[in-house]
Amino acid sequence: MFTAQSISAATKPDFYSELETQLGALLAGETDEIANAANTAALLFHSLPRLNWAGFYFLRSGEELVLGPFQGKPACVRIAVGRGVCGAAVARKTSVLVQDVRAFPDHIACDPVSRSELVVPLIRQGRVIGVLDLDSPDVNRFDRDDQTGVERLADIYMERSIGSA
Ligand code: SME
Repeated sequence: MFTAQSISAATKPDFYSELETQLGALLAGETDEIANAANTAALLFHSLPRLNWAGFYFLRSGEELVLGPFQGKPACVRIAVGRGVCGAAVARKTSVLVQDVRAFPDHIACDPVSRSELVVPLIRQGRVIGVLDLDSPDVNRFDRDDQTGVERLADIYMERSIGSA
């Protein structure tokens, strides 16, 4: 059985480095992308402080994101590419860091408690297949160190997971 270790890192990059090690161990030997997404969401939700939602959306039919495994309150199921923070990350093919969702006019408020958001696209062979989305109840919760760290965690998820999404 995998047991998440509490992380007592001195710096945020060290914290993410330890979390990368934990995620690699958690996903070791498993390639199912849904199972791996579920465990990745659970690890992030329970390891990263000040989150109210952590989860995945997968691109369907090339034009719409559909809700995948997550931790947190029930969420919007379908998001069109280009809409919301998630759809913007797909359209731009880059991470989108929103310090205050009230200043992002197209933000989709699945949970009105969310105040800042980090969305990282999942890219396979140059194509976006989905996003990893983190929400926080705090304004300015995420910085560039978080973005870099979560991008590396998303890379580990993608390296380990083979699927049809
Ligand atoms: N806020 C997101 C929608 C997904 S929820 O945060 C889980 C957006 O604007 O795309």
